[in-house]
Amino acid sequence: MAKFTVNTGDVVGRINPNIYGHFAEHLGSCIYDGVWVGEDSEIPNTNGIRNDVVAALKKMKPPVIRWPGGCFADDYHWEDGVGPRDSRPRRVNIHWGEVVESNQFGTQEFVQFCRLVGAEPYFVGNVGSGAVRELREWVEYCNFDGDSTLAQRRAADGSPEPLDVTYWGVGNENWGCGGHFSPEDYCAEFRRYASYVRGNVIACGPSGNDVEWTVRFFRKLRKDYQDFRNIHGFAAHYYCGTAGTATEYTVDQWYELITKGLRMEELVVQQRAAMDAYDPDRKIGLIVDEWGTWHPVEEGTNPRFLYQQNTLRDALVAATTLDIFNRHADKVVMANIAQTINVLQAMILTQGDKMVVTPTGCVYEMYAPHQDGMSVRTTVDSESLVVKGLNGDVDMDVISGSASVKGDTLFVTLTNAHAADAVKVIVSLLGGTRANGGTARVLTGEIHAHNTFDAPETVGPVPFEVEMKGSDFVIELPAASVAALEIALA
Ligand code: AHR
Repeated sequence: MAKFTVNTGDVVGRINPNIYGHFAEHLGSCIYDGVWVGEDSEIPNTNGIRNDVVAALKKMKPPVIRWPGGCFADDYHWEDGVGPRDSRPRRVNIHWGEVVESNQFGTQEFVQFCRLVGAEPYFVGNVGSGAVRELREWVEYCNFDGDSTLAQRRAADGSPEPLDVTYWGVGNENWGCGGHFSPEDYCAEFRRYASYVRGNVIACGPSGNDVEWTVRFFRKLRKDYQDFRNIHGFAAHYYCGTAGTATEYTVDQWYELITKGLRMEELVVQQRAAMDAYDPDRKIGLIVDEWGTWHPVEEGTNPRFLYQQNTLRDALVAATTLDIFNRHADKVVMANIAQTINVLQAMILTQGDKMVVTPTGCVYEMYAPHQDGMSVRTTVDSESLVVKGLNGDVDMDVISGSASVKGDTLFVTLTNAHAADAVKVIVSLLGGTRANGGTARVLTGEIHAHNTFDAPETVGPVPFEVEMKGSDFVIELPAASVAALEIALA
């Protein structure tokens, strides 16, 4: 029997809804065909944006969506994507298959998409091949509430009111496709760009858990600038990769990938410690604005389009990762899974007029009640498995989870990563609270289970009978499962 202890009296911090953010890049069919079909399409749409996708995303409640890249962002010039659509230039998307970018989907279209799904836009500026002036003018075009030429241009493009874009990224992966900067050189660029941006500025953090990038960036920031104003966050990227393929893997590879996903915990712990040394008052949040699984692309698809299927294994990676972010709610202010539609660990797959919600999309819908809750301390005591194939053996707890409180409701999410065995878990409430009933749902199936266009509802959350009464109750988690429990507190 495993034990999951929830101390409702020990608050970690408010779960920033933005932890449940997405990332949508001009890559493969994420934007074109995924979000945008154009007004003349036979696929039902609102001003060119797919209605089926909007309806599915609304259930997941993405609070923020990062755009237009990714590597694409450092080769994107925002003026290409505004004004009358029939006169927008056609450019080459040099990173993602050298396809022609028609610029039919630009600033106004993206903000409209965000408004339709209820998300805040997070724009990533071009540092690698752009200019400070370009980013400064993009901010003015979007946000200036007055009579400037750029604000008039925005109005002529259909938005008299400011677009109110809150989050501004200063480049993307500037250690790589965003210009191959050293941390010190990027820091200097960052300050220059950030000086002209009014809003919440987000700096490029490390590739994976590269602590050296973080230390060198913050050391220079403190020594040369001393000024940490308006830096909302520092953003790492971590892709846990694959084991086997998206849909074909052994039981060992099931465990291997989930364990690689769980390394996010180490990243968060070590990155926040490195940041604390320079920012002890924790004014700057930790962000992970690209993360997820990265499998070999599906056979027959363009290798540069990064299209992959998504199984229950991806759902377990998503759930355990979101639980990590919830448990570090006092430092993690945003996270953006890569990517929303048709690319990498997508929430949604489309094919012509068909659409499916993936197991990962189901997790986002199930976990939405955590948004804006107060994360409370949890501990887990469960069987641990020895996972091989990761440069040595790694112990992995089969059970993991997180908990948050909103008013009189406790929301608990739990995963059982065991591929074959159900696990009984005692949920034990500390802090003077007791459970007084509630509802639960579970996502489970055969370990390779996934949704296809022909069988779109193979995997999905179903009601889960659990007797939730008193300060301790037992729940039997099926093998390979994610559970969400909404518990009334007495
Ligand atoms: O998400 C795909 C790519 O992965 C992004 O464009 C880039 O930032 C990262 O390397």
